[in-house]
Amino acid sequence: MLLGIIGAMHEEVIELKEVMELIETSEIGGYQFFKGTLLNKEIVLVECGIGKVNAAICSTLLIQEFSVDKVLFTGVAGGLNPDINIGDIVISTDLIEHDFDCTAFGYEQGVIPRMENSKFKADLELIDLAKKVATENFGENRVFVGRILSGDMFVASNEKINWLRETFIGECTEMEGASVAHVCQILNKPFVVIRSISDKANHDANMNFDEFVKLAAQNSKIIIEGMLNAL
Ligand code: ADE
Repeated sequence: MLLGIIGAMHEEVIELKEVMELIETSEIGGYQFFKGTLLNKEIVLVECGIGKVNAAICSTLLIQEFSVDKVLFTGVAGGLNPDINIGDIVISTDLIEHDFDCTAFGYEQGVIPRMENSKFKADLELIDLAKKVATENFGENRVFVGRILSGDMFVASNEKINWLRETFIGECTEMEGASVAHVCQILNKPFVVIRSISDKANHDANMNFDEFVKLAAQNSKIIIEGMLNAL
């Protein structure tokens, strides 16, 4: 079984890159794919860059060029649910591209016209495993399993938080997960998105992000390693 692991930013993949045994590095279109083993499991790790298109390109390449069997996305997010604090974990049930807007044609926000489904569901076994590992490491109160919202924007206002919560009932917001999920749905690959909270998507979000991104990335790494052990 070959596992694809994606993180958007250097901070989000460096922790895993440092501990994996690298066999081969390949470059496609400027993206670097690190093939090797981690805890004796075969993986391909990639830093996809920020935003939905970068994440979609790398997910597609992982599946089509590297033939990964499953996809894990690891990284940080802004909390939307007021019960979620910095350092807590969110595991995706389903994901929505919150900035997809064809409301002018009567579609609901986030609905992609002419697609059967725009709420991309993560794999149940991967969700269960991520939840188990996260709970063992961080405790039940710090682990949330629910909807993740993705858009090409860094959310840093209470107004936007309220709109996202009211419109989609999302637990957290980030900039890649739903596009990875979209690709995995189209190409029929199981996936899950695991996010650790770096900020609360409010007016302090940019400052909190800089302060907590490393801690949050370390939390995500702990979960990926726990999952690899069990897979
Ligand atoms: N990733 C981490 N925090 C975020 C936020 N507030 N908005 C979008 N993506 C994020």
